[in-house]
Amino acid sequence: MDASVFAGERRLENCTMVIFGASGDLTKRKLIPALYNLALERQLPRRFAVVGYARADMADADFRAKMREAVRQFSRTGLRDESVWERFEENLYFVRGGYGEPDDYRRLKELLVRLEGTGAGPANRILYLATPPVVFVPIIRNIAGAQLNRGEELRGGKARIVIEKPFGSDLASARELNREVHQVFDEREVYRIDHYLGKDTVQNILVFRFGNAVFEPIWNRRYVDCVQITAAETIGVEGRGGYYEGTGVIRDMFQNHLLQLVCLTAMEPPAGMRADDVRDEKVKVLRAIRPFARDKIDEVAVRGQYGRGVVDGAQVVAYREEPGVARASRTETYAALKLFIDNWRWEGVPFFLRSGKRLAQRLTEVVIEFKRPPLLLFKDFGAERLNPNYLIMRIQPDEGISLRFEVKAPGPEFGIRSLSLDFNYSEAFGGAPPDAYETLLLDAMEGDASLFTRHDEVELAWALLDPILEAWSSGPSPQFPNYKAGSWGPREADAFLAAEGRYWRYSD
Ligand code: BG6
Repeated sequence: MDASVFAGERRLENCTMVIFGASGDLTKRKLIPALYNLALERQLPRRFAVVGYARADMADADFRAKMREAVRQFSRTGLRDESVWERFEENLYFVRGGYGEPDDYRRLKELLVRLEGTGAGPANRILYLATPPVVFVPIIRNIAGAQLNRGEELRGGKARIVIEKPFGSDLASARELNREVHQVFDEREVYRIDHYLGKDTVQNILVFRFGNAVFEPIWNRRYVDCVQITAAETIGVEGRGGYYEGTGVIRDMFQNHLLQLVCLTAMEPPAGMRADDVRDEKVKVLRAIRPFARDKIDEVAVRGQYGRGVVDGAQVVAYREEPGVARASRTETYAALKLFIDNWRWEGVPFFLRSGKRLAQRLTEVVIEFKRPPLLLFKDFGAERLNPNYLIMRIQPDEGISLRFEVKAPGPEFGIRSLSLDFNYSEAFGGAPPDAYETLLLDAMEGDASLFTRHDEVELAWALLDPILEAWSSGPSPQFPNYKAGSWGPREADAFLAAEGRYWRYSD
């Protein structure tokens, strides 16, 4: 149980992490590999254990063997060091339990108390909800019922709850879930995951903006023409058709990841870097976004669903042919939105957001498109038009930042070319960045909620998107499929920008 071999610089307090949903995909693809990599880097607390909880019939040994295989397959470093794994797995346990069975939670508690020992200082617990959302509420109620988060056994330690997305499926359900959570936990004990916030490149948006003095003076409506945020994926629904059918890209990507990118790009400088300083500013952005009118959604949004096509050289099936998907499904796998932020900084600057599955390229980026120069001085020298300057923050892959500008090409003529200054993460720092979950798990253990979303952020994001979801679910059936797998999305999305003389940075 003493995992001191893993203890690192951060001197985290002892901690036991309970993962509800331990037989699921997230545990094996993300959570355990992230914890293993933290162990490799000696970042875990001195005394650390993981207890998996799920309905599956498994003994500790089965769980350990499964997780070992998961690390081999999904960890960014593979199973790099067997001896670290061996030490790590000694602290892995499994409890078979139903999510609504009070007796099972009592057994879980007995194990926790045993693992935490006595007289070893405060016992801290992370209660991680990695289950489908339908069982969030029974788990929360049973955590309270078994007093997993309070009581003498904690010896003054802290219990924190980490809640995976989706946090609700609309405003009403998110409010209801917040209400349930708050009956058992104080807001400062609640860690709602948005894994985009754990990405270094996403955190760098704040460092880039507020750690430099040159960009901030032009980061506003006077200089910025528009902002484009793209989160394009080449993957389809990856065997998650059942989940995705009731979700769609607005709930899956916009409500959380894309709106978070909008907030970080658009927010004012925070008063400090404490969790609430940053979250207060993000909330102000969400409040200032002009609400969408339900009867005018077509003016601000385009939706799409992929048909068959070729992705990365391989033929792939249409969304409607994926397992778990209805043959006449009207679920959107692509959306593009235009929004305005009605505040002093951004009045009149459109933010274009798009995300989709099975697109031409995997690419997430935030592009600031600046206004063109007021005068075309070089017209007499053959320059028909000048391209705008772009600042491109590449979130993934090929993480980095580029600034594009016009230069004179060498030679007697006055040829003008667009070129860029480039910063590339892997060239500058070497290697791949840590997985977002490594950062987030460590922060949760440390009690730093800056990279987690607050109750009001989540609710405001739903309030904004509800009219779109309602309009799309109640209106006439869309003409789906309307884009080919492997393309840049439906034609309407290009027309949407072309109508105002703009174009996406990438399109077919
Ligand atoms: C998840 C969505 O939140 O984010 C997935 O549920 C999506 O559908 C994933 O594929 C994208 O994350 P990343 O880190 O690969 O951009």
